[in-house]
Amino acid sequence: MYCIIKMWITIYYELIFIIFVICDNEDIKTSRTVVLDYSDLAQEAESNKHNILKFLNQTRVQLKYKTQFNRLLHKLQATSNTSRRGPTRRIVAGVNTSIAAVPWQVSLREKTYPICGGSVVTSLWLLTAAHCLLRPRASELSVRLGSSWKTHGGEMYDVKQSYVHPQYARNTKVNDVGLIKLYSPLRFSSRVLPIKMVGKGNRLPADQAAVVSGWGKLKEGGPSATFLQSSTIKTIAMKLCRNSGLDRNPIDPGSMFCAGAFSQPSPDACQGDSGGPIVSEGMLIGVVSWGLGCARGNFPGVYTRLSAPVIWDWVHEHISQDS
Ligand code: ARG
Repeated sequence: MYCIIKMWITIYYELIFIIFVICDNEDIKTSRTVVLDYSDLAQEAESNKHNILKFLNQTRVQLKYKTQFNRLLHKLQATSNTSRRGPTRRIVAGVNTSIAAVPWQVSLREKTYPICGGSVVTSLWLLTAAHCLLRPRASELSVRLGSSWKTHGGEMYDVKQSYVHPQYARNTKVNDVGLIKLYSPLRFSSRVLPIKMVGKGNRLPADQAAVVSGWGKLKEGGPSATFLQSSTIKTIAMKLCRNSGLDRNPIDPGSMFCAGAFSQPSPDACQGDSGGPIVSEGMLIGVVSWGLGCARGNFPGVYTRLSAPVIWDWVHEHISQDS
């Protein structure tokens, strides 16, 4: 008798689980998920792991990333046009995005709780925001890679050491960048891939399309995403951003830049996206840093300027030691 009851309970739970999975997939299917195939780059990256920075610096490789990025833009645009009508439109006016479209995206967690985003830059080093690393000790940090879901799938890695930029200032938020070193090198795949950082001192043109991604809040004060979101936004000229009038924290042109829009709809990053990537032309140009609320339409998002020599040099000093 006991056995039969136990069997029924098991069947019951399994049924619920199957229904849950089917419904979840339905949800994603109806709202469309942006996917890209990076498998050939992944294979090459894996076999060039010992000198990944050199590999990422090759013009041929950069061209591949750029081509993939243009495909991503295309797909994001197509998806956001169709979802704008339906109930699936989300903040950052984002769309469901498979990790396979942004395989450098990392979910950073403090004792299993997701706190920030990040980016894979080599097989041992991940880049994030300084303000994500202030509280937790390295032993309390872990990362999830290779999954589109915030809470399951992919692989988890422990963090060996975390580093905050020595000139990061909490009050002004300048130089908001930090690094995470893993114990063991990542295995690159089409869902876990490094992204090349922008060149040192590179000028960042205004009005350039860029993709920001993460599991942060879907709207200001709202719930955060369970499935990875991304959105296409545009870089904003420093002059416009500084004159926005809402900058209680002055925007430091040396170590920050703005991206987003001054009008509605204004796609934007939000709480929980911090530390995550903003990518343009297949290169990592910034880190999600701060904003005034989210997607308000009168103030864009502020990002850490990775091309700034004071930031670029510090990052490369670390990641080129043992990439
Ligand atoms: N500081 C926020 C975080 O910790 C990121 C905010 C970005 N805000 C924005 N409106 N772009 O997650």
